[in-house]
Formats: sequence, C-alpha cells, structure tokens
Amino acid sequence: MLKIAVLISGAGSNLQAIMDAVARGEIDGRIAGVLSNRADAYGLERAKAQGIATAVITHGDFAERAAFDQALIRQIDAWDVDVVVLAGFMRILTAAFVGHYEGRLLNIHPSLLPRYKGLHTHRRALEAGDLEHGCSVHYVTAELDGGPVIAQATIPVLPHDTEASLAARVHESEHRLYPQVLAWLADGSLQYDAGRPRFRGQPLATPLQLPPSR
Ligand code: GAR
Repeated sequence: MLKIAVLISGAGSNLQAIMDAVARGEIDGRIAGVLSNRADAYGLERAKAQGIATAVITHGDFAERAAFDQALIRQIDAWDVDVVVLAGFMRILTAAFVGHYEGRLLNIHPSLLPRYKGLHTHRRALEAGDLEHGCSVHYVTAELDGGPVIAQATIPVLPHDTEASLAARVHESEHRLYPQVLAWLADGSLQYDAGRPRFRGQPLATPLQLPPSR
C-alpha cells in the first residue's frame, strides 16, 4: 500500500480528490499526513474531517529557506511515506529538499508543460490565444516546473472563456489527473528510473494523456 504525504498551501481541492479516490478504493494507498505552510489553509480542515494527521510549518518562522525545508523533511520523514505529493504547495523548494525525495516527489501544475511554468497560467494561455489548455503532473526536479512530465489532461479553450471559467475547468481536470497518476504509482504501472518515468515497463517518450471526461 502506497503511503502518501500531501503538501498544500490553500483550498486543497486536489487533496480532496485524492482522499475521495482513496476512499473509493481507486488508489491502493493511504494518506499518512497533510502538511501546510499556512495555518489557515482550508485543506487542513478537509484532512482533519477524514481523521488524517496534519502539520503546519510556517515558512515565516524560518530565517532561511534551507532551515524551513529541513523542518519539512523532518515532519514528512516522521510519517515514513513512499511519495510526497505537492498539491497547490506554493513554496519553491531547495535543491536539498528535491534531492532528498528524488523520484518520490510529484507536483501538479495548471498548464500543459512545458508551456507556462510559474504563475498566471490561465491568463497566459488566454492571452496567447491557445485553443487547448490543461494540467500536468510531473516529477519534481531542482528546475521550477521543469521535471519530467508523467501525464496531462487537455481541455479546449472556449470562445467565451475568462480566466475564472478556464481555471474552474482546469481544476476539474486536475481532480481526475492526480488520482489517476497516484493509482498508477500504487499499482506499480508508474516507476521512476534514473531521472525518467517508466510506464508499464517502457520509458515514457511523451507524457501520458488522460482521455477527456464524458
Ligand atoms: C491547483 O490548480 C494547482 O495546479 C496549483 O494550485 C492549485 C491548488 O488548488 N498549483 C500551482 O500553481 C503550483 N505551481 P487546490 O488547493 O484547490 O488543490
């Protein structure tokens, strides 16, 4: 059974989607703990409602990023997890943190990487006149939003879309994508081999694509 830590900073809707998929038996796993860098993150309430352990480590309490990251590592390692899932965790992590969890650290990003690393992804997709947008789950490396992409979900950009309407549909796609990737990890379909994802034994040449929702 896959032991999971989830790191959040906010609403935690992806955390909710993962908890729901675990409860439905779609992920052969267990969430061992949820960690937030913000005490007011609503996702903490979602976790507590399910009886999941929570921790708050406030980045403002640390003079240096390195010390904050070491505190994160101490808490996560105390939960003894197989995978660390970044789900709207809005802090840039040090190379030491990323190295500590190499091959066990996943992130979801609201764009079709390598497009739109960083912030304001929906606005940037609209401004570029893109016809498609979506989300990506990737292994985390020291390069921001730059690690190998495992899977993506693509949605059409509609003529009347605003930043808010697009964000809402990307969120829905995230809630399908992240649980699916974790299910693949839990059943052994997805593996990490020397910096490259492997899916069902084959190195991934291009990201897996989640079919559109019906
Ligand atoms: C998600 O849209 C996620 O892709 C994004 O934060 C949101 C968190 O929502 N992450 C990033 O932008 C990371 N660079 P949630 O708290 O409701 O899951």
